[in-house]
Amino acid sequence: MSIVSAREMLLKATEEGYAVGAFNITNLIQMEAVVEAAVERNAPLIIQTSVTPSQFLQPHVISAIYRTIAESAPIPICLHLDHCTDMGYCKTCADAGYTNIMIDASKQTIDENIRQTRAVAEYCHALGDISVEGELGTVSGIEDQVKVAEDEAALCDPEAALEFVNRTGVDIFAPAIGTAHGVYKTKNPKLDFDRLARIAEIINGKEARVPLVIHGGTGLKPEVVKKLVSLGGSKFNVSTDLKHTLIDTQYDYISSHRDEYNPGKIDTAVKDAIKGRIHYWIDLLGCAGKAD
Ligand code: 13P
Repeated sequence: MSIVSAREMLLKATEEGYAVGAFNITNLIQMEAVVEAAVERNAPLIIQTSVTPSQFLQPHVISAIYRTIAESAPIPICLHLDHCTDMGYCKTCADAGYTNIMIDASKQTIDENIRQTRAVAEYCHALGDISVEGELGTVSGIEDQVKVAEDEAALCDPEAALEFVNRTGVDIFAPAIGTAHGVYKTKNPKLDFDRLARIAEIINGKEARVPLVIHGGTGLKPEVVKKLVSLGGSKFNVSTDLKHTLIDTQYDYISSHRDEYNPGKIDTAVKDAIKGRIHYWIDLLGCAGKAD
């Protein structure tokens, strides 16, 4: 029961008006930290890997560790492949035991995006209960191998969003609404709240059908996060925050313990720091206590 795909988890979040944190991890310490923090808050959880860490650690290894941890956890947990532009690698990760796959063909024409997304959705659905996320419009910034310049970024057209969802058969949908990957360059990034509201109305207005994803969580003010959730964002992606926490914590610990050679103590400091960030996000997203 702890190993689930995202669709049902996020339909519940959409109906009840909260979001589930989807946290990008790059190593085992981070995976254990996000799980422990989510268990402590009794929150549903999505663990994500970008393509590079997934290839580095190997999908079957990540999947085996995830399954071992999740099997004994008292909360539902998904394992999601984030922003994969390669259909072949999407299939490799689905075969290896990921429960969610994001095919990111958002830089292609809409017809090509639909073709690739539908092909991955068909493959994953035929394989079993594997949820697929697609993106329309392009989210600016850098997320692993996907780089989109600000002037290349395009917001999602609401009517096209409906067509995309209907023609691809995706389970989860990421519309570009002005959020960005990485650290925001301005204090008040321009987000198109009306566009998100319109897309939510068109797709999930009558009944929750295809949960919506908000990319680019790092650096958004708490009131902005809450507004995005209230407008229908039910999967909330956070990556850069956790990378900074990992590296800054390691740097600070090593700098202040130059004579100590005890990796376990560095790992413990990292784990505690990551857990602190996950508690922050879970409380903000409103998913504490929603694991049952
Ligand atoms: P941030 O790196 O800005 O938190 O974005 C994460 C994300 O959207 C991953 O898909």
